[in-house]
Amino acid sequence: MKEKIEKLLETKEKIKLGGGEKRIEKQHSKGKLTARERINLLLDEGSFVEIDAFVKHRCTNFGMEKTEAPGDGVVTGYGTVNGRLIFVYAQDFTVLGGSLGEMHAAKISKVQDMALKMGVPIVGINDSGGARIQEGVDALSGYGNIFYRNTISSGVIPQITAIMGPCAGGAVYSPALTDFIFMVENTSQMFITGPQVIKTVTGEDVSQEELGGAKTHNTISGVAHFMDKTEEEAIERIKILLSYLPSNNLEVPPIYETEDEINRVEERLNEIVPTNPNKPYDMKEIIKLIADEGELFEIQSYYAQNIITGYIRLNGKTIGVVANQPSVLAGCLDINASDKAARFIRTCDAFNIPLLNLVDVPGFLPGTDQEYGGIIRHGAKMLYAYSEATVPKVTVIIRKAYGGAYIAMCNKELGADQVFAWPSAEIAVMGPDGAANIIFKHDIKESEDPIQTRQEKIEEYRNTVANPYIAAERGYVDDVIVPSTTRPRLISAFNMLESKRETNPSKKHGNLPV
Ligand code: HXC
Repeated sequence: MKEKIEKLLETKEKIKLGGGEKRIEKQHSKGKLTARERINLLLDEGSFVEIDAFVKHRCTNFGMEKTEAPGDGVVTGYGTVNGRLIFVYAQDFTVLGGSLGEMHAAKISKVQDMALKMGVPIVGINDSGGARIQEGVDALSGYGNIFYRNTISSGVIPQITAIMGPCAGGAVYSPALTDFIFMVENTSQMFITGPQVIKTVTGEDVSQEELGGAKTHNTISGVAHFMDKTEEEAIERIKILLSYLPSNNLEVPPIYETEDEINRVEERLNEIVPTNPNKPYDMKEIIKLIADEGELFEIQSYYAQNIITGYIRLNGKTIGVVANQPSVLAGCLDINASDKAARFIRTCDAFNIPLLNLVDVPGFLPGTDQEYGGIIRHGAKMLYAYSEATVPKVTVIIRKAYGGAYIAMCNKELGADQVFAWPSAEIAVMGPDGAANIIFKHDIKESEDPIQTRQEKIEEYRNTVANPYIAAERGYVDDVIVPSTTRPRLISAFNMLESKRETNPSKKHGNLPV
């Protein structure tokens, strides 16, 4: 027995070395950690339990039967993050370039199945040359199994992917099917077809980083949600993200004790909105002044910055915030902002996270780019996402709330359970400038001083229509509040809404305008 145990431990040690010292050194020299180092950083110390370390590939093509591949290029198992169970897999680039074959995929599928059964999050760390070329269709079948499980688990357990190396071809679709994608600057790339293929097909010259690096996917494509300078920072951020999420769709997120005053009145909020309606300000300042300890955990912070999405806590409880950002594109909704917000709203709804909507929106962005790009279809996603969301929804109209965009930011009719307005709120079909040009066209034209008349009519329109009181008189707004009291009012509203139960009609699934 002693000998057998020694042999077992020896084998385990060998498996732990993956592709060996040389390849580990190469991995480190690129500024990358190994699969096991990444898992150990992510999980609570000593909590990792490995599954399937002995799994081997069964491929005999191209002399593969002689190829040693410890763990078949992926490390899988479970452990805890801040004491909460999660499943994890990390592709091991030191073993056959982390390429995915039949058994590698089977290992990933197994932890996907277990995470779903146990109702806990799964974190995947990708670092792979893609489909293992020697294994052909078995590798493709493996991907199919993973994609299927990603989809079936969607909305049931949080799925998080960290890209920490190459992720090419169809391999990108597993991350894309998960809830959140993390990328690391300069060492992670995602693309369907690489630079060489692009050069051959279109003649275009582009580097790997330019094509599918962290910056590209965080600022241009919107594929990724987070960008960090180092793997350590990315892993730290994954842990923070997990702290805002429940383990599954039947639970609520963990509640964290806060030292922040529930009744904190914030005088600064009374002066933050400029009196000139065309002057921008930073909506993030408002969010931070409302949130517990001034903390906002932003999602997709580099993408479609005209809308802010992220998590805060109010009295220790996770709240998803969707807020227009007047300092970018005047806070207009465009295609990218609509997609970003709709996706976020649906993620919150799936995971029982109440929504707070902060509104200062002059409308949908005009232009042929937007119309040809399908702003109608994309904007509709926001209306759809808010309407079907059954979590508590609270809307605060800070300043402008014009036209369709007022509705798209979750007004009463889209299901806002409480709508508050600041006295600075302007709720109208369109902005006073545009409105005056249309309804007072003749007065302005016939006036002796058209400029002066136009100005007077704009003011008249603003004073008559663009204020919160008409909406409040009709009950579209539940209360006009003093801005400084926003935090206590929101905490009270979300407390009141905690027992909210709402169910949509039973159906196979809706038909979101994708
Ligand atoms: C088998 C692979 C492999 C693969 C890498 N390796 N990719 N083995 N199948 N797909 C092996 C290499 O042969 C090498 O083995 C080791 O992994 C490390 O690779 P290097 O090339 O030395 O590393 P590096 O220079 O860092 O280059 C990394 C790379 C390059 C850019 C990822 O390896 C590469 O271009 N690989 C092929 C990528 C690709 O086209 N994959 C298919 C994508 S399509 P040794 O023994 O030398 O250490 C796809 C379809 C999925 O994935 C479809 C899903 C539906």
